[in-house]
Amino acid sequence: MLQFDLLATDSSSHARRGQLTLNHGVVQTPIFMPVGTYGTVKGVMPRSLEEMGAQIILGNTFHLWMRPGQDVMSSFGGLHAFEQWHKPILTDSGGFQVWSLGDMRKITEEGVHFASPVNGDKLFMSPEVSMQIQTTLNSDIAMQLDECTPYELKGHITTADEARRSMEMSIRWAKRSQNEFHRLNNPNALFGIVQGGMFEHLRQESLEQLVELDFPGYAVGGVSVGEPKEDMRRIMAHTPHRLPANKPRYLMGVGTPEDLVQGVASGVDMFDCVMPTRNARNGTVFTRYGDLKLRNARHKQDHQPLDTSCTCHACAGTSGVSWDQGGRGGFSRAYLHHLDRCGEMLGPMLTTIHNLHYYLNLMQDVRNALDNNRFAEFRQQFATERARGV
Ligand code: GUN
Ligand code: ZN
Repeated sequence: MLQFDLLATDSSSHARRGQLTLNHGVVQTPIFMPVGTYGTVKGVMPRSLEEMGAQIILGNTFHLWMRPGQDVMSSFGGLHAFEQWHKPILTDSGGFQVWSLGDMRKITEEGVHFASPVNGDKLFMSPEVSMQIQTTLNSDIAMQLDECTPYELKGHITTADEARRSMEMSIRWAKRSQNEFHRLNNPNALFGIVQGGMFEHLRQESLEQLVELDFPGYAVGGVSVGEPKEDMRRIMAHTPHRLPANKPRYLMGVGTPEDLVQGVASGVDMFDCVMPTRNARNGTVFTRYGDLKLRNARHKQDHQPLDTSCTCHACAGTSGVSWDQGGRGGFSRAYLHHLDRCGEMLGPMLTTIHNLHYYLNLMQDVRNALDNNRFAEFRQQFATERARGV
């Protein structure tokens, strides 16, 4: 099941404040969803995710199909019990991941043939197979199998004709996904995915045909696939607000904090991205006053926490009081710089907690601004603060 209630709309943009009710709980939107590809948000315990205010996390059909496989998942009754996360889960269909295999795969109308990257076995992913796996996973939101149209392939920029063929196949796969999802009596919700490459008229056709299929929610896919930022912003400005106002809208795989705020203004309700978790492991930290490179030698003797305004466990310790508010309980930049130098695992664990807290808290601030009818002011202040520098 899925119920979406619109709580407020912004007068200065397409932004909305909403509430999404799913089988495993209620999600306040706009929301960022931490990525847990293999059934774990890398390095973070579920209780820490809860403490940070995560309301829904991602899983990946493709990866969980490879390992541990459907038999294990089925014996646990799904992903929630297996990974010990009892709030909502959204699973991506595998379309994007199979596509990323490059020369290891062959896409046909029927589905995708490929060699397992784990053991070389010949495997076949189709809309039906993806729905069967996602039904076993019992994710609260399943995604249709789609073909993520690339921006360019081996130096060739995708033409409108190519993008059309790809988009039209994704529509046929949307129907097949929906038929199989219903045949399996899956009690959760299935989202359709708008494709169409960098072409507004194809995006329009894609969304119109998906809206006819009456999905309970819609995603915008095929962005952040190597295109210049201005193309991404152009598609973000075009598509989300044209989707049905009474249904949730999910922008897949985006993005920086600035992209999220822009996405909300464009009418997006849900986001996911590996950026906070992946960048944390590479020593790039997001803060209220801009991004910080932990590996930089200037942090060697810095006693400040990563973000002086942050109340996360890394920045404020157990007190929950930020440095700016007089708290002294957090880990210093010097310490985290040292952990990184030594390759200690606590380093990426703490930076991941901080980055996820930053993203989740940013969305909480966005929701508060929308609740209080001051989203326009919020955007102004956000841009100014992020540009200040750490
Ligand atoms: N993740 C990021 N972009 C996409 C997309 O276009 N399709 C799917 N299935 N997942 C994605
Ligand atoms: Zn922090």
